[in-house]
Amino acid sequence: MKSNRKEFIRNSTLLGLGVLGLGANAKDIFVSTFTKLDGSLMPNNGRFELAPLGYDYYALEPFIDAQTMEIHYSKHHQTYVNKLNEAIDKEPSLRGKSLDELLLNLSGLPSAVKTAIRNHGGGHWNHSFFWKSMKTGTQMGPNFTKLAIASFGSIETFKSTFEKVSLGVFGSGWAWLILQNNQLKISATSNQDNPLMDAGKTPEMIPKVILGIDLWEHAYYLKHQNKRGAYVTNFWNVVNWDEIELLLK
Ligand SMILES: [Fe+2]
Repeated sequence: MKSNRKEFIRNSTLLGLGVLGLGANAKDIFVSTFTKLDGSLMPNNGRFELAPLGYDYYALEPFIDAQTMEIHYSKHHQTYVNKLNEAIDKEPSLRGKSLDELLLNLSGLPSAVKTAIRNHGGGHWNHSFFWKSMKTGTQMGPNFTKLAIASFGSIETFKSTFEKVSLGVFGSGWAWLILQNNQLKISATSNQDNPLMDAGKTPEMIPKVILGIDLWEHAYYLKHQNKRGAYVTNFWNVVNWDEIELLLK
């Protein structure tokens, strides 16, 4: 965890460019907007649940195929939820805590369940966020455009940097776009880690996650086989820019 965290911070420092005038409310960042939108990240009677996908498996065709979506959502994501609940069952003291709270304090969790919550809690958070991040036919909005140009110099640089980081992830992991201290930054994590894990104790230290791309082969292998680059390029066609504008409000 420590090395991944250091890597994340280093990459963020290297890739985050520029400071802008748009204000991000620190209180809002502490509990992510995403969590407010999705009750599945709060346990229901002590159990985490797989929320409805919100669209059909074929909705992201032809960019992400229906079979991949069905297996990814109903098998992979469901398994993360099941194993997260198994971990919580072993530590009743954690029952009722939100997933954000668990991940923000990961290093302080009981050692018997820390790894399971890191892997499966991370998997549940990441995939819940991922499904909401995708929709075809939306257009990049004004708030994001302004932020991206201020942070990266141009939309082209933002996209090329995101693609470069995505292709640079060795093995399974995720690439992220986060907002921190009024600045957009791009980074990557391994396995099911994410930017919230042990992010810090003060609101200013906790990033707001804006976008994430699943770089596990299960996300693209049926359609693209080993061509991660094609999957990443296609991803721009399914980014839900409407959702991103909401996250930036
Ligand atoms: Fe996945």
